[in-house]
Amino acid sequence: MAVTAFLHQKGGTGKSTLAIAAALALQEKGEPALLVDADPQGTASEWANRFGKRFGVESLHHIQPTLATLAESWREEWRHVIVDGPPSLSLMTESILVGVDRVIVPVRPSLPDIWALPWLAAIVRKLRREGRAPAAAVAFNMYRGEPLEPLIAEMKQWGLPVWPEPIPASDELAALFAGAALDGASAQRMLRLLEMPGGE
Ligand SMILES: Nc1ncnc2c1ncn2[C@@H]1O[C@H](COP(=O)(O)OP(=O)(O)O)[C@@H](O)[C@H]1O
Ligand SMILES: [Mg+2]
Repeated sequence: MAVTAFLHQKGGTGKSTLAIAAALALQEKGEPALLVDADPQGTASEWANRFGKRFGVESLHHIQPTLATLAESWREEWRHVIVDGPPSLSLMTESILVGVDRVIVPVRPSLPDIWALPWLAAIVRKLRREGRAPAAAVAFNMYRGEPLEPLIAEMKQWGLPVWPEPIPASDELAALFAGAALDGASAQRMLRLLEMPGGE
């Protein structure tokens, strides 16, 4: 069993899209996931209310510094838990990091998304020193063939590995919020991402 969070302090990088895609990919594989909405803006819960009735959904409507404790009870019931994180840094950020097995940090292939990383990376490094850090990697999302090397070079100093398979910008993923199904290639890509070390 594994708890996976999509986390970045910046909005618009694809946390909710990829969290929903991950839950859909697991469901299609016959392994239902609990989708946890840890963003007070409620994107994942709203999506689930409209289109994801078959999902288990847990909505946290305010800063919840005890997510790590909640995660223990989810673990008992669910094989997979997917957490859609808030676009901010708060007490919840550290609690999410402590409570999950792996963290995927979506970034668009653009410098501002990279420049926003050091704070989150610093918390991960602190937790590593304490032996409490989850597996963590940055994943490029909305990729349109941009040169990634300069962006990867910029990130080296922060100690966050980069997932080797960028997630393309696609009409299918953009349409998820409108209730579209996940296409097969995206589903396979999400399942590979979820095989990142840190789970079972
Ligand atoms: N891979 C992708 N391809 C196309 N559109 C995407 C992709 N990932 C995210 N989007 C779009 O980008 C916007 C921001 O995504 P969202 O998941 O809401 O980000 P976050 O949760 O990090 O704020 C949304 O309009 C979403 O549909
Ligand atoms: Mg979101």
